[in-house]
Amino acid sequence: MSQGPLLVVIDGPAGAGKSTAARRLADRLGAFYLDTGAMYRACTLRALRLGTDLSDGAALAAVVDETKIELLPDGPEGKCRVLLDGHDVSEAIRTREVTNSIHHLANEPRVRERLVARQQALAVARAGTIVAEGRDLGSVVFPHAQVKIYLDASVTERARRRAEDLGGDAPAPEKLQQEITARDRRDTTRLVGPLTRVDDAHYVDSSSMTLEEVVDHMAALAAAAGQAP
Ligand code: C5P
Repeated sequence: MSQGPLLVVIDGPAGAGKSTAARRLADRLGAFYLDTGAMYRACTLRALRLGTDLSDGAALAAVVDETKIELLPDGPEGKCRVLLDGHDVSEAIRTREVTNSIHHLANEPRVRERLVARQQALAVARAGTIVAEGRDLGSVVFPHAQVKIYLDASVTERARRRAEDLGGDAPAPEKLQQEITARDRRDTTRLVGPLTRVDDAHYVDSSSMTLEEVVDHMAALAAAAGQAP
């Protein structure tokens, strides 16, 4: 078991309930909550606002270099608050337009390299426990994390949860399932930093678990790691 503050990383596909569960776990452990997806979202929002050519990797990397992102704990329910160049974009980064454009940045090695370095620097700067969530955390960003969790759920259940989140703006269930399946494909097949279930991750299928059960289970895993010699 590695020394230093406890690092709990949670990877998994879109809509498996990572954000809410990670946020709750962080609250329970008094930990810093690092939402790496919010960083990809914030940079995507900035690129869209600037009208950047999303197929131009060098231009996307430049957008990342020029984007100041702050993650604060007091966001909307289950999320962190996200400041982009000092402005609150917590809601703006969650639109379907942003979600459906992220792959341009997530697939670009120069973007990932920069965001991975920022994520690692953020973790080094914190003295206490960290709960981080994303896709490539156990495999690329924090391979030394003491607790690795892969949080999964069925596509049907993930679509149902997404529809609940989107409320009146939700498209038909079949459309949502198609979007989720397309995002899974992009997340798992990209050449750099794909969504990966590493061998040393605890697999948690949340399809038929309540949020409370998921958080309890993750807290037990964190407690066991914290007590390990
Ligand atoms: O977790 P969230 O759904 O907010 O992430 C949005 C997108 O950002 C994901 O679909 C994925 O493409 C990308 N992402 C990533 N690597 C991470 C976190 C998110 O590529 N560590």
